Amino acid sequence: MLDLRLNKLMNEEILKGYEKEVNRINKMIMDKSGQGNDFLGWVDWPVNYDKEELARIKKDAQYVRDNFDILVVCGIGGSYLGARSALEALNGLKSDDKLEIIFMGQTFSPNYVAQVMNYLKGKNFAINVISKSGTTTETSISFRLLKELLESQIGKEKARKAIYATTDREKGALKTLCNNEGYATYVLPGDIGGRYSVFTAVGTFPLACAGVDVEAMIRGAQVARKEIESAPLKDNKCYQYAVMRDYMYHHNKPVEMYVTYEPQMSQISEWLKQLFGESEGKEHKGLYPGSATFSTDLHSLGQYIQDGTPLLFETIINIKEPKQDIVIPHDNDDLDGLNYLEGKNLAFVNQKAFEGTLQAHEDGGVPCNVIYVDKLDAYNLGYLFYFFMRACAMSAYMLDINPFNQPGVEVYKKNMFHLLGKKGY
Ligand code: PA5
Repeated sequence: MLDLRLNKLMNEEILKGYEKEVNRINKMIMDKSGQGNDFLGWVDWPVNYDKEELARIKKDAQYVRDNFDILVVCGIGGSYLGARSALEALNGLKSDDKLEIIFMGQTFSPNYVAQVMNYLKGKNFAINVISKSGTTTETSISFRLLKELLESQIGKEKARKAIYATTDREKGALKTLCNNEGYATYVLPGDIGGRYSVFTAVGTFPLACAGVDVEAMIRGAQVARKEIESAPLKDNKCYQYAVMRDYMYHHNKPVEMYVTYEPQMSQISEWLKQLFGESEGKEHKGLYPGSATFSTDLHSLGQYIQDGTPLLFETIINIKEPKQDIVIPHDNDDLDGLNYLEGKNLAFVNQKAFEGTLQAHEDGGVPCNVIYVDKLDAYNLGYLFYFFMRACAMSAYMLDINPFNQPGVEVYKKNMFHLLGKKGY
């Protein structure tokens, strides 16, 4: 499962000093009495989730797998990153699953949108549109285009059976559209915000379509929830991680860099950046969340991390057991000088790169934390998602910030709507 090695600046005394504060905030999260408490539905969701809806999701997902070649998942931010990150982490970057999953609705890029639309022409695809508000412009434009293409290819009636929507239970433009058109709909509960929604239909429908064992993922979250709620700080990895973040923030380390050694986890870093950045970055406070994929980025950012302005600390997610491995072959000429590695697995080389880099960065004064995960499967990923969500709530409350709103996001929208000529702006 999960183990945590905190950076060398941390010690038992520091942790002890945080004990009371952590207990107070944990109680506040459980009692739902802190700021933004009407958005704490995610805390108990792994236990309280809608069992009937999940059964329907699994049935519909099987129908999609049996009847379509492609599922286009249309959403942005919290209505996109959970599914995408889990999908890539679990199925890899070159998945050979029979259902292809494509993401749209997360950009205004005319190049990207036009390319996806071209690719879909003449193909047998279904759509999963995801938007809590139902009015997010990136998603709405993409959905309008996708719906039009689908209807032009298979007709309005058949298209109705190929469109699946995840939105608010009763309100919003998308909900009205679903009611009018009769699309299958799933609910993003009112008390769960986008970036905390991966265990709801926002994550489970697309992931079930991709053949992921979503129940195992939820089980992982259940176990994490139980452990985090009851363990004292000295045994509580999640809250120790949150304490470490707070300590770094107050000791001149304003940047946290998430590091993985698996390119298929780079979207997990994107999910983490959204979770922590959007939850914590308020009132001119909060750590800046960055990310890097090693060893690739050791050949770019590595120089800065080792020798540049000492403003960051690392949180490395180390997966102990890769899903697949490959052996380095013998070469008679050995002109590349690699025969000293013949017969060794790439996992061994990746591990040594991790160990060597960890030591180099620590010797260079970069505080490095390591989260060890046994393997990348649905269960462990569920545990990890919940671990970070809970740590994020704890961290934000330590800074006296509401983790569940995002007032700053509205500023660009207002300007953009004004420039686009939207009524009322
Ligand atoms: O975490 C969040 O709340 C946001 O990132 C939203 O998920 C994102 O803005 C998309 O919103 P909506 O689901 O309303 O389209």
